[in-house]
Amino acid sequence: MNISIQLAPKNKRGLLLANPVMTASGTFGYCLEYSQLFDVQKLGAIVCKGTTLNPKEGNPQPRIAETPCGMLNSPGFQNIGVKALIKEKAPVWANWRVPVIVNITGDTVEDFARLAGELDGVAGVSGLELNISCPNIKHGGLAFGTDPKAAAGVTAAVKSATSLPVLVKLTPNTDDIARIARAVAEAGADALTVINTLRGMAIDIARRRPLLANIVGGLSGPAIKPVALYMVYEVAKAVDVPVIGCGGITTGSDAIEFIMAGASAVQVGTATLVSPSSALDILEGIEEFMKKEGIKNIAEIIGTA
Ligand SMILES: Cc1cc2nc3c(=O)[nH]c(=O)nc-3n(C[C@H](O)[C@H](O)[C@H](O)COP(=O)(O)O)c2cc1C
Repeated sequence: MNISIQLAPKNKRGLLLANPVMTASGTFGYCLEYSQLFDVQKLGAIVCKGTTLNPKEGNPQPRIAETPCGMLNSPGFQNIGVKALIKEKAPVWANWRVPVIVNITGDTVEDFARLAGELDGVAGVSGLELNISCPNIKHGGLAFGTDPKAAAGVTAAVKSATSLPVLVKLTPNTDDIARIARAVAEAGADALTVINTLRGMAIDIARRRPLLANIVGGLSGPAIKPVALYMVYEVAKAVDVPVIGCGGITTGSDAIEFIMAGASAVQVGTATLVSPSSALDILEGIEEFMKKEGIKNIAEIIGTA
């Protein structure tokens, strides 16, 4: 059975995954903790926590709220910064066979380009994932990811700063995700991750105040699966680069749905917070389905819906 996937066919370095199951950024830390719990080398790829140029303490507490079939989070990019990541985490990843992709974010195009430059050529880093859901400070705070020109601009700037494969992670908080997808694919994105969290809020009725200190948070988990699935379907029709499905995937059947909608790979986020080895269980579920259906190569079912 062939379940390997080339996620960056247009990139000279390529990004070959032994299987299509990846972890989603922000839900798997730097993976070092999880490597003590189970064999993380069996995963297709690992995407680490969102990383910025300088360390960040993140938003004030509370940052997390449970919702029906999901959760709201607003960590505010708490992270150790790119220099510490290069010094402390990458050397460990360099000894692993599973590729590690660094999720990066910034307030300006220059931040993204500098991060890409610093990570270029670092052993243990196999690719970058751009989180463009953040506000573009230089353009009045409108998220990069909701403006096709800004999204293409940041993609092009990163591509010229690195030879690493570049995944661009799209936000669902836009009225036309296919338009953004086309713009970043034309600007050179090697693959697209679809989707990040949806904006939402919860209210603590005893205090009569928003539950999250940041007021707004990102909704994730099974609640967003139908939205994510439709967006993958729309984006896969619009671009000719691989699409990575993400949003509410908790079982092998969920993953198969995303693959049939057009995803070449999937990312598992919130499910990992419920059960740490979810991604591996999902991989097993994919393999069982393929066995049962007599599918020899996963490529046979990509986009069949
Ligand atoms: C606690 C938490 C932290 C997250 N941090 C990031 C992040 O730093 N960068 C990013 O691009 N996405 C981040 N995400 C979004 C996830 O990677 C994923 O896109 C989203 O949660 C939808 O997938 P899921 O429903 O499987 O969780 C975070 C999600 C959660 C729940």
